[in-house]
Amino acid sequence: MRTEKLKFNKNGKFIIMQVSDAQDLQFVRHTMVRMLNKAYDTVCPDLVVFTGDNILGNHLRDARFGSKHVIHTKEEEYEKMKKAISHICRPLEQRQIPFTMIYGNHDDMNEITKEEQADIYRSYKMCRGLDNPDKTVDVDTFDLPVYSSDASKKVFNLWMIDSAWCDKEADRCHTGVTKETVEWYKRRADELKEENGGKYLPSIMFQHIPMPETMNLLSECDKDTPGAILHRMEDGQEKYFILDPKKADGYLCEPVTPYDENNGQLEALREKGDVKAVVYGHDHSNNFIGEHDGVTVIQSSAASFRCYGNHLRGVRIFELDENAPEEFRTYFLTYSDICGNGIGSKIAYIWDADGCIRQKTALIAGAAAAGVATGALIYYLRRKSNG
Ligand SMILES: [Fe+2]
Repeated sequence: MRTEKLKFNKNGKFIIMQVSDAQDLQFVRHTMVRMLNKAYDTVCPDLVVFTGDNILGNHLRDARFGSKHVIHTKEEEYEKMKKAISHICRPLEQRQIPFTMIYGNHDDMNEITKEEQADIYRSYKMCRGLDNPDKTVDVDTFDLPVYSSDASKKVFNLWMIDSAWCDKEADRCHTGVTKETVEWYKRRADELKEENGGKYLPSIMFQHIPMPETMNLLSECDKDTPGAILHRMEDGQEKYFILDPKKADGYLCEPVTPYDENNGQLEALREKGDVKAVVYGHDHSNNFIGEHDGVTVIQSSAASFRCYGNHLRGVRIFELDENAPEEFRTYFLTYSDICGNGIGSKIAYIWDADGCIRQKTALIAGAAAAGVATGALIYYLRRKSNG
């Protein structure tokens, strides 16, 4: 891992590409890798941010097909993890694009500790961050400053926040932003303010799991309302929601699943006021931007082809401006935006994406029919030429 500073480019811009829930294994679905590579080559980001569930960490021991465990030791599992991580990191190493990461709930669901896993990411020269000396927080909780184009001062800050961990003994995943993490954020924001002449550094915060208050961006509705999404509440009640058009814009295609343990993250963000947006992954098929009480929240859909998802598979872009760091522009690029709508790109999508059963069946039936028709044509032509 190098420690070179991230800085605004010569045009005074800094382009971040968020890749969330890439969530694949040592046997990667190549259409996702091709989509990401094309996005890197088209957008040329200054930084790629993996926002958790970077690998499908709970299935590293599985056979290539099915879920039978064929790996039995931690050492073997670690090797498979290295291979899975290489599919997302190696293309960036080859392109010399810096990247950073946080964990999601799936990354930690195995025998490997978060520190050991971080060492794999750190083994790549283009990896940035993962360097917090404060050990009251997890390894994927840190801040990553973006310097001015002349590298003389910090202009913007990126907060990377852990929001999921696994109790390995009990084999149980927990979600939340710990009290220690909230306290660390407050301390560090104050330190950065002091360094910055008494002014908070404008920033974006990345974390995998949504804050519980994200539910306030939804409005309860009748189950017959177009786009209504069933949510099973903590008390067992079933309620239907849509995005509240006064508070949010985008796609709600599955329930929002915020973290369980609330330690006052939103209050801390309001108190400090430096965070322009909190950006999540986690709910693979949701993609929206909302605003509550002065804090923008953004949920980005997944990149993974191995796991469930929908037509919103893709990447999110953030454009920062050195001369206006309080503002940022964001937009989402879907698979079809990146790879086009040609027949080859559509077939690759259907073949590799989880689900699409009807289209896959039609594709196989079409290929079989085309094979039979070609065979019949060859047979007919041979018969004809033989007289
Ligand atoms: Fe995920």
